Amino acid sequence: MSDNNINSDSLRLKITESISSQKRKTVTVLSSLLAVQDSFHYIPDEAIEEIAKTCKVTINDVWSVASFYTNFRFTPPGDKTLDVCWGPSCHINGAQKLITQAHKLLDIEGEGESEDNKVTLRYSTCLGACAQSPVFAIDHKMFGKLDEDKVNNIVEILKKD
Ligand code: FES
Repeated sequence: MSDNNINSDSLRLKITESISSQKRKTVTVLSSLLAVQDSFHYIPDEAIEEIAKTCKVTINDVWSVASFYTNFRFTPPGDKTLDVCWGPSCHINGAQKLITQAHKLLDIEGEGESEDNKVTLRYSTCLGACAQSPVFAIDHKMFGKLDEDKVNNIVEILKKD
């Protein structure tokens, strides 16, 4: 058996564990997708197959539910997540310039992962800390009243191992 098969087998085992350990009695395609996303932070291809088996539906059925909800992602996220807020308060206080700075320093265009997959950058319409705007967050830890120097520091934190 190749390493890939071993990895795929252990991945499938973890997927089936996350599907079967749901607390609610009724296991649905959606609840199973949520359980997998909670465990892995994304939906691996193997999960689509395992959910289809568990829920006795076709792969297309699972896929149509998974692709309907924009909160599901299908590739592994970066090691750290940077949320950048472009909501009204942050926008008025200069967020766009700082977001552009973060994009350049991390070499990420729009939303997505850095080349080394260390960072996922996501847009937020409000991080709930408007009084501190402009605001970014690393793995939900807020950094407010941002300026260019603070964004440089945030990028340093993100690039550390
Ligand atoms: S608009 Fe940015 S934190 Fe609310």
